[in-house]
Amino acid sequence: MNNVKKVTEGIYWIGGSDRRLERFENIFPIPEGVSYNSYFIDDEKTAVFDTADVTVADQYMENLKTALSGRKLDYLVVLHMEPDHCSLIDKVTALFPDVTVVGGKQTFVFMEQFFPESRDYNKLEVKEGDSLSTGAHTFNFVSAPMVHWPEVLFAYDSASKALLSADAFGTFGALDGGLFADEYDFEKDFLEHSRRYYANIVGKYGVQVQAALKKAAGLDIQMILPLHGPVWRKDLNVILEKYQKWSTYESESDGVIVVYGSLYGHTASAAEAVAASLREKGEEGVKVFDVSGTDVSYLIGEVWRTKKIVLMCPTYNGGIYPPMEGFINDMIALGVQNRVFALAQNGTWAPVTGKMMSEKLTNLKNVNILENVLTIKSALSAKDAEALNSFTDAVHSA
Ligand code: FEO
Repeated sequence: MNNVKKVTEGIYWIGGSDRRLERFENIFPIPEGVSYNSYFIDDEKTAVFDTADVTVADQYMENLKTALSGRKLDYLVVLHMEPDHCSLIDKVTALFPDVTVVGGKQTFVFMEQFFPESRDYNKLEVKEGDSLSTGAHTFNFVSAPMVHWPEVLFAYDSASKALLSADAFGTFGALDGGLFADEYDFEKDFLEHSRRYYANIVGKYGVQVQAALKKAAGLDIQMILPLHGPVWRKDLNVILEKYQKWSTYESESDGVIVVYGSLYGHTASAAEAVAASLREKGEEGVKVFDVSGTDVSYLIGEVWRTKKIVLMCPTYNGGIYPPMEGFINDMIALGVQNRVFALAQNGTWAPVTGKMMSEKLTNLKNVNILENVLTIKSALSAKDAEALNSFTDAVHSA
């Protein structure tokens, strides 16, 4: 069954939702699914902006044929040449051999790399400042490098005042029937997915996102049409303000996350004691995570949300417990900034991870690593009450 949805006059959504893919990019678990958005322009000339992932190929092709309603396709615009959006280029161009494929210089380089066996498409190379008219609609191209690949373009339609924003403002989460963000309770249904998507996929490129936001600020944008998740036609500031915070590495809340590694439950027990003590001191929004049992992408999402991060880690093979080391490495790779870190170390004969974690965390910009390290010898006990109290005092007052 086709699933074509009207976005606004002359623009239709023809994408698909995938609820079977276990991991996005074969890394990030997506139990909530994901949508691949593609937009069809019904105008004097017909156009499609991006295709979709191969996982929704049948649905996509059915939607495209339905939207075209017997017309031929004039333009296939490729704003982002990553396979979750470009996998069906070959299928579309095979069906419409006269179509003109529109993209940036680098788009076509990547296209040849991904589809070396493809026939020669009709190509139209565009760059920032160029425009494409389909009749009533004129799409102006804006370069958005590293949001989050280097070839990315945005397109702004001066007729509908819609910004086709590629991955920017996208989110994990399949669409549950509705197309628009205002058809959902965004905070409840999508915010966590949106933050996790941003932090893990775009998070490293805050400077480039800032540059794209500055360009967007110069446009009269009434709608945002991303490549994943719902379309924004109301309250655009909700997502724009989140992007402003996320891309400047500003936390959303003053809460604390306590992330622990624990072989036998003793550091876990200490983490519960730290969390309880923080609550008693009035710290709100304390959340505790087992680093071994929580996919790191969720931890990264939480790091983008909150200000203070407590890491509690046993020694393992003379070093940092591997899942904790993986989490810290991910924070470094993504360029986390402006956070407070408090460290606790556990060791039966060599509690040394406080110093090791601290050394790694100094790779991050603008972070405050508290000097007060909580040391646990095997298990936290009543004799450690003063040390625990002093540790949580330091976290609370940071
Ligand atoms: Fe949704 Fe960067 O691909």
